[in-house]
Amino acid sequence: MGVIETLREQAICAMGFSYAPYSKFHVGAAVMDENGKIFTGCNIENASYGATICAERTAILKAVSEGHQNLKEIMIVCDGEQFPYPCGMCLQVMSEFMPDGLVHVTNGDEIKTFTLKELMPHAFDL
Ligand code: THU
Repeated sequence: MGVIETLREQAICAMGFSYAPYSKFHVGAAVMDENGKIFTGCNIENASYGATICAERTAILKAVSEGHQNLKEIMIVCDGEQFPYPCGMCLQVMSEFMPDGLVHVTNGDEIKTFTLKELMPHAFDL
């Protein structure tokens, strides 16, 4: 199985743990580091709404908090029919840990691939 298909399977698996009682919009993500190690995440909502975290950031923060800062590719899946394009906050976090990375999104049928720089050409930086 190729990298993209493996990431998709892992993201779908992670989507199964999504906690989304408010939006009922379930998202899963799988991110791969420079050595091919994969970390997964789901969206985790909160009654305060504002404390909700997206699937992409869950996956990325899991990787970084375990010592893996050099990330290369991320796959995002959802249970809607649209393509789950990452929100601005997730793009900004991606720009920190995978500035030259690839972002794959799928509607369950087609997979679209973008460079992070295509999705966020002018990320904030210090
Ligand atoms: N969400 C993600 O997890 N990733 C995205 O790319 C977009 C939105 C989540 C956050 C919230 O739990 C739900 O989807 C609806 O916004």
